Amino acid sequence: MEIKELISKEKIEKRIEELAEEISKDYEGKSIEFIVVLKGAAIFAVELAMKVKPNVRFDFIEISSYSGTESTGVLKVNKDLKADIEGKDVLIVEDIIDTGRTLSYLKDYLRSKKPNSLRICTLVNKPSRRIIDVPIDYNGFDIEDKFIVGYGFDIDGDYRNMPYIGYIEKI
Ligand code: IMP
Ligand code: MG
Repeated sequence: MEIKELISKEKIEKRIEELAEEISKDYEGKSIEFIVVLKGAAIFAVELAMKVKPNVRFDFIEISSYSGTESTGVLKVNKDLKADIEGKDVLIVEDIIDTGRTLSYLKDYLRSKKPNSLRICTLVNKPSRRIIDVPIDYNGFDIEDKFIVGYGFDIDGDYRNMPYIGYIEKI
């Protein structure tokens, strides 16, 4: 299996700085509740949080819909939140928005817990694959329909620690 570079480490770092700047302005004087979607968004969330100026609190949720490279379309919460997010300013931190199923499910789920505000930040977006429309507040990169690995992205759990984003031609 050959992995080709799609987005370099330098480009990712620079873009995260820009996103952090935007988020810092929008949340000035507030505390941000990061809801990190495990496991893919963990690396991105850490890098982003350290570049954001307002106070950041962390909580984690794990939702799965994938097996290999194809969506099963079935979603479930594997690991639930610990924090009470009622009245909080919540920012969902995602690795990628593909069909939009995960995010729309998660948004409805979190909205029911009555946060003060609820926004979405994703490192990568694959607009051509969208099935359910979800508005994105902060978007790192739009990419073509390629299966990516590295910088948190995996294929069956592997390659998450690659420091850049690569893609797989064929598996
Ligand atoms: P969605 O529900 O179809 O939007 O899927 C989002 C989830 O699918 C992401 O959180 C990823 O875990 C996974 N995913 C989608 N595309 C890729 C990819 O190219 N590489 C690795 N994981 C992906
Ligand atoms: Mg994910």
